[in-house]
This record gives sequence, C-alpha cells and structure tokens, in this order.
Amino acid sequence: MEVRNRGLVTALRYRGREGMWAWLLHRATGLGVLFFLIIHVIETAAVVYSPEFYDEALQIYKNPFFRFAELLIFFSVLFHAVNGSRIVIQDFWPYLMERQRQLTWAAGIVVLLVMVPVTWIMVAPVFGLAEEPGLERHLERCVERTQAPACLEVVE
Ligand code: HEM
Repeated sequence: MEVRNRGLVTALRYRGREGMWAWLLHRATGLGVLFFLIIHVIETAAVVYSPEFYDEALQIYKNPFFRFAELLIFFSVLFHAVNGSRIVIQDFWPYLMERQRQLTWAAGIVVLLVMVPVTWIMVAPVFGLAEEPGLERHLERCVERTQAPACLEVVE
C-alpha cells in the first residue's frame, strides 16, 4: 500500500467528521498529557535536587495564566479517558462500531457536562467570583502547624 504524507491542510479539508476529530483530539490530548507528565516529574524531583528552583516554580504557578493551563490539562485527561473508554468499549463489542458517531457524541456530551462545573470551580476564583477551593481548610491546617503570619504568606 502506498503511504503518502498529505500535510495538515489536506488533513483539515478531509471530511472525516466526528470520527476524524475525535481521533485527532485523542492523539493531541494523549501526547499533551504525556508531555505534561514528563515535565511534572522533572519539576517535582527538583524538590530534592534544587529546593530553591522548586520554590521558584511554585511561585510561577500562582500566575492566573497557569489556572487556564491547568484547565487545559484537566480537559485533556478527561477527554482522553472518556473517549479512550469509548474506543475500548467499541473494541470489546465490535457491533457497536455501527453506532460510532452516536457514541462519539455521547462521549463529547459527558466531557462537556463535567467541564462546565469544573471550569467554574477552577476559573471563578481568578476573577474574584468565588473563593479559592480548599483555602479555608488550608489556612486552618497551616495555623494548627505554624503561626498565622506564615500561613498568610503561603496564600499570598
Ligand atoms: C483512563 C485512562 C486512559 C484511557 C482509557 C486511554 C485509552 C487509550 C486508547 C484506547 C488509545 C488507543 C487509541 C486508538 O486506538 O486510536 C490510547 C492512545 C494513547 N494514549 Fe491513552 N488512555 C488513557 C490514559 C493515557 C495517559 C495518562 C496518557 C499519557 C501519559 C496516554 C497517552 C496516550 C497516547 C500518546 C496514545 C497514542 C495516541 C495515538 O497514537 O493517536 N493515555 N489511549
């Protein structure tokens, strides 16, 4: 069989409908999560090898931009898991292949239903519309272990 690389533009013009987009997004999210995991393991290991670098990295993560990046990671894991489960189910019960389009939409709806509340929980505090989740519990624990001023420094 002849295999030709037709390029991204041709791929985008290819009218593969739901199946093609689900496949493309599954690959993009799979590689994205893998990339994130590699970076995350390196950065977490820094707590042992270079605690100063680790502390600096934590400061950078407090930037609101990272809240949106975290939301993207959440979406990637969620989509990959739900769509991946759809693929596994279709593999086990091949007659469901005939319902691939409907199942792809069902997976998309499940992802959307989870994304709506999670987006609110993660993004609302950035705009001051809701309190940071877990902040109160975090402060209480911190006060128990140390003294209050140090705890506020952690939050700021
Ligand atoms: C609930 C967890 C997961 C499920 C159910 C799942 C399911 C799947 C399935 C069924 C495939 C094959 C897709 C196909 O045949 O077209 C796949 C591919 C892949 N997965 Fe996952 N996966 C999961 C977690 C992960 C994680 C955590 C990572 C990254 C660290 C990952 C990275 C990948 C990659 C890179 C591919 C190859 C994509 C491609 O070649 O298009 N997966 N996954």
